Amino acid sequence: MEKCLTGKTVLVTGASRGIGRAIALKLGQMGAAVVVNYMNSSAAAEEVVEQIVADGGKALAIQADMADPAAIEKLFDQAIGEFGQLDILINNAGVAIYKAIAEVSEDDYEQQFSLNVKGLLFSCQQAARKLADGGRIVNISTSVTKMMLPNYGLYAASKGAVEQLTKVLAKELGPRGITVNAISPGPTDTELFREGKTEEQIRQMGAMAAFNRIGTPEDIAGAVALLASADAGWISGQDICANGGLTA
Ligand SMILES: NC(=O)c1ccc[n+]([C@@H]2O[C@H](COP(=O)([O-])OP(=O)(O)OC[C@H]3O[C@@H](n4cnc5c(N)ncnc54)[C@H](OP(=O)(O)O)[C@@H]3O)[C@@H](O)[C@H]2O)c1
Repeated sequence: MEKCLTGKTVLVTGASRGIGRAIALKLGQMGAAVVVNYMNSSAAAEEVVEQIVADGGKALAIQADMADPAAIEKLFDQAIGEFGQLDILINNAGVAIYKAIAEVSEDDYEQQFSLNVKGLLFSCQQAARKLADGGRIVNISTSVTKMMLPNYGLYAASKGAVEQLTKVLAKELGPRGITVNAISPGPTDTELFREGKTEEQIRQMGAMAAFNRIGTPEDIAGAVALLASADAGWISGQDICANGGLTA
């Protein structure tokens, strides 16, 4: 897939750190011009841009709160203004609040759903209006939606909505040759994943995968790259687990 995205422009949301960073670097290596969206980490986002440019690619960091529909619209317009068109959208920005359902507050709900569901919906809406024909949308969900883990109810509910939106949008955009899929990572070594977990808990989660380890952001970027490629044009409306054969 070396350089197979030359001439394409991709927007990766939440690309300053973690999985989004790895996706931005990977798609940049494949030749795409990359819009590196971030919320707070401007230095980290600029570092991603510098790395893509140093590898001979094109990239631009743009700050936008992916929970705010007005900011999302501005982001799409800025990206298209800069690169002429947008071909690929990777909706990666997300948060995770882990609490027993008995403990969830209204504030937790707002925080969880405003980014993972409202923001993703309005990002998809902008893509539906502005993505070039033949484009690609990849939404990042989670393997947790298949596992029924205590304390993951609020987070899993938000990603359940992501998976449902993915399937319906695939039907709406299919006539324009745009594919819409979800990638559902398993436990993946990022700040979001490590927060509040002991090394022993992380080891146990790794032991649930066929490869006896948790995933890396690069593992997930590889799966996203497959769906972003021209060869994936007949795959749409799918939710694909990238989790190293994880079973509960
Ligand atoms: N890690 C895992 O084990 C795992 C497993 C399954 C699914 N996922 C999903 O994968 C995605 C990425 O997770 P991660 O582990 O890479 O997270 P992470 O390390 O916490 O990184 C989150 C990224 O999202 C950005 N972000 C946060 N709030 C934002 C907002 N309101 N607007 C724009 N960007 C925002 C952050 O930007 P700043 O740096 O500027 O704050 C950062 O770049 C999420 O959707 C998550 O649910 C993760």
